[in-house]
Order: sequence, then C-alpha cells, then structure tokens
Amino acid sequence: MSEGAGAPRRLIVGVTGATGSIYAIRLLEALRGTDVESHLVLSRWGARTLIHETGYSLDQVRALATHAYKDNDQGARISSGSFVTLGMIVVPCSVKTLADIAHGHSGELVHRAADVVLKERRRLVLAVREAPFTDIHLENMLKLSRMGVIISPPMPAFYTHPKSIEDLVDHTVARWLDLFGIQLDAAKRWTGKMESGSPTPPKTPRTRTRRARK
Ligand SMILES: Cc1cc2nc3c(=O)[nH]c(=O)nc-3n(C[C@H](O)[C@H](O)[C@H](O)COP(=O)(O)O)c2cc1C
Repeated sequence: MSEGAGAPRRLIVGVTGATGSIYAIRLLEALRGTDVESHLVLSRWGARTLIHETGYSLDQVRALATHAYKDNDQGARISSGSFVTLGMIVVPCSVKTLADIAHGHSGELVHRAADVVLKERRRLVLAVREAPFTDIHLENMLKLSRMGVIISPPMPAFYTHPKSIEDLVDHTVARWLDLFGIQLDAAKRWTGKMESGSPTPPKTPRTRTRRARK
C-alpha cells in the first residue's frame, strides 16, 4: 500500500552511547507536542549510558516515543526505505556510531536505519559528542557532511540567557528540530535585540577541590 499526501510525519530518533542522553529525552518530549511520530532506537550503550546519566528507566524513555524498536530488530520498519520518514537524528551520537555510519556498517538497527536514510537521500542529523576530536573523527564527519549529512554536535548557546541546564538543552533541541522543518512554539529565537547587563549564566554545581597533600 502506498502512502500519500496525508501520510504521518515521522522522525527516527537514534540514541547511542555518548554522554548527553538528556538531549534525546527532551527531544522525545518535545515531539510529543507536535504532529510528528517519533520512532526510537537505542543502541546497547545508548541505553546503558542513559540509565547512568538520568533518572529515567528505559521503559519510561520508550514510552515517550510513538514507537520504540529493539536494537537487534533488523526486521523493524525503520530498517526499510519503503517506510517513509522525514529522516533521522542520532542524539547523542558516539564516535563509534559516527564511524559505523561513515563506513556503511549496519549490523545494529541504529546503524541500519541511518544507512537507509542515507540511501534514500533523506535528512540525517548527527549530534556527535566527543572531545577532543581525532583526525579520524573529523574525517568521518567531513565525509558524511559532503554527502549531505548535517553534523550538529550538542553545543550550548548562551545568547538566550539560559537559567538552567534544561534551558540549554531545550534550545539545542529546538535548533535540531528546525533542521527537519519541525518548529516548536516554545523555542527561544534570536530577536536581533542586543542587551547589556544580562543576567548571570546558569548556576553550576559547586565542586570540591582536593586539598594538596603536605
Ligand atoms: C558514561 C559514558 C560516557 C561516554 N561518553 C562518550 C562520548 O561522549 N562520546 C563517545 O563517542 N563515546 C562515549 N562513550 C563510549 C561509548 O559508549 C562506546 O564507545 C560505545 O561502544 C558506543 O557504542 P554505540 O555507538 O553503539 O552506542 C561513553 C561511555 C560511557 C560509559
């Protein structure tokens, strides 16, 4: 059965084992307020890192998505180009997954789904997270960028005067969704108005420094 003009809008959300799982959670939450279906796949280390970094269980995160798939389910709908989507965002994207995608490895569903999006010439956004980058990481990013992939690491912006980490995350999430033509009403956008005497940046947790040994 073919899908016509009234077909649902769908976005594939891949979550891999880089730090920053909260970005994926906020993105899934944001999509719930839109008409766009989210199709979620977490890699094994994406799931493990998410449990480590957030207070969410995997079931809670999967429940945020319209559909969630197991990473070893190569028979999932997102494994086929005939399942029409707006494209895919991998958030956060580890440099391992970056390399897998850049080299056409599609042994796990998250990589297969990205490969399908590439072959169908749909939009692929990779929120690559690592620091610092090696030449290998940079070459993989350049290779994919030249194929039309958007490399958009999670890089916080401060011109919106964020008051919390959530504000920082949400701003970046909104910018990623813009790339798919999904515009959030709540997104803070640059107004062209420069200010002075701006509020201080978000408070950072106090850290204890070790006393030097005598
Ligand atoms: C707490 C934690 C944080 C990590 N952060 C990163 C990271 O920021 N970037 C990265 O590329 N890998 C990071 N890793 C390593 C990846 O999880 C690891 O390379 C994994 O094999 C990636 O597999 P995947 O891409 O299939 O999820 C982290 C691992 C852990 C346990």
